[in-house]
Amino acid sequence: MGARHWWEDAVFYQIYPRSFQDSDGDGVGDLAGIASRLGYLHSLGVDALWISPFFKSPMKDFGYDVSDYRDVDPMFGKLGDLRDLVARAKGLGIRIVLDLVANHSSDEHPWFVEARSSRSSPRHGWYLWVPDGPRPPNNWKAIFELGSAWHRNPATGERYLGTFTRHQPEFDWRNPEVRSAFYDVMRYWFDFGVDGFRLDVATGYFKDAELRSNPFSPKAIPDFFQKHVYDRNRPEFHEAFKEMRKVADEAGERVLIGETHGSDPEIAASSHGKANDELHMAFNFDFLHRPWSARAFRESAEVWYSLLPEGAWPNFTLSNHDQPRHYWRYRAGDRTEARARVAAAMLLTIRGTPFIYYGEEIGMTCRRIPRHALRDPLGISTWPFGFLGRDPERTPMQWDGSEGAGFTRGRPWLPVNPDYASRNVAAQQEDPASLLSWYKALIALRRARKSLTSGGIRFLDGVGEDVLAYERAAGDERIIVLLNFASRARRVDLEDEYRVLLGSAVDPGARRSRGHLELEPESALIASAE
Ligand code: NOJ
Repeated sequence: MGARHWWEDAVFYQIYPRSFQDSDGDGVGDLAGIASRLGYLHSLGVDALWISPFFKSPMKDFGYDVSDYRDVDPMFGKLGDLRDLVARAKGLGIRIVLDLVANHSSDEHPWFVEARSSRSSPRHGWYLWVPDGPRPPNNWKAIFELGSAWHRNPATGERYLGTFTRHQPEFDWRNPEVRSAFYDVMRYWFDFGVDGFRLDVATGYFKDAELRSNPFSPKAIPDFFQKHVYDRNRPEFHEAFKEMRKVADEAGERVLIGETHGSDPEIAASSHGKANDELHMAFNFDFLHRPWSARAFRESAEVWYSLLPEGAWPNFTLSNHDQPRHYWRYRAGDRTEARARVAAAMLLTIRGTPFIYYGEEIGMTCRRIPRHALRDPLGISTWPFGFLGRDPERTPMQWDGSEGAGFTRGRPWLPVNPDYASRNVAAQQEDPASLLSWYKALIALRRARKSLTSGGIRFLDGVGEDVLAYERAAGDERIIVLLNFASRARRVDLEDEYRVLLGSAVDPGARRSRGHLELEPESALIASAE
């Protein structure tokens, strides 16, 4: 085994910058706001922040439509604010990872403005075009707009590709100029001092050379019943990932985490490269789609481990800015909070790098947002069909019980969830029995015990189908994690003597146990072998 990398041991925390902390009262979060909350993040114990895009943008997809890859949008502050944030974070031992949106730009990016002006423009070949005709060339869809992905450009008599919205024209990654432009953007930020990138739609960079239509898939409801075989996930992405890896590795200990799209763990796993020479990590989204079941999570983790190439490092995530929050997904009346503790224990003790989504540590949830307050283009276009888009998981961080939840003194860009009055950081910080205190305890334990980071994992059988149980071991250290997913108590028989380190439903104290451990309904126990 080679030397450990920082990102293998780190706990990551995703910040959606619009919603984390507003410092100037315009109702939108900003970089100075994030900097002002670094003390909180440090006390939570996280090691790295992935910040969703804050670059110059017309905000048609809230920053995932970039019009300048090297500058901060004035809404979020100035380049100097970022410099300050990076420096202050570094002072606390917190690393900063940016979001590189390289599959597409904004239609207002000067590159696209130039490209669309004429077929002979030097930038024309940076994007993807087909001659205009009565019909689009294939069935690819703009998934946030409910229409074809091929958008008309009268100036050149062509259509360009945008598989999200018409405002997000897609690059031709076969063009070496495009590739080197992005590698230069990466170098620019590495020189600036950032620690890596999350790569947006990374497995989408290449499209089928023949532009074949995607096949029908009855299960792919959010994707218009299409499987992304030809508009994404083309094998050519491996070449680009190898090149990007070189750029990152040349800059020292940096990390590339790909949004290796979709619900196909095989494609995500392959993004590490057969020789582990592509992305350092490929997001594993499988937990986002699993029901509340011990067996389902075990199966998901085992599949992921088995798919990873030799030497590749796993990661797990329960919530992000594109999916309903897990506190809401696993809601079960007054048992929801207990479930959130079990989920947190799993995320923070299973073998692999955990990604926490802002607010999950206090149990932020989702709720229906009134039509007039919807902002997400996906929410707006699907509203008539009863879908809510992604606004519910993007509501402002709940810092305290004051008006604006301590997020803003102005009018928040999305309504704060009304449960902020009782569910907020200030209230939970004071309470040793809160969910926030549970997250802190788990992160602290993880930091203190090598077995929970670099240690191996062995799933335990014979514990009943409602219990997810595994052992983490490194050297002489052996820890068992018992997660009871059932709404009834369970008893687990054990051979060795264990000392309880943390329990979501018991007072850990110095409890020892030989022979068996009792698990409360929907609870987590972490114990070390004596
Ligand atoms: C994936 C991002 O996570 C999502 O928020 C965004 O809308 C699309 N990529 C397009 O950039």
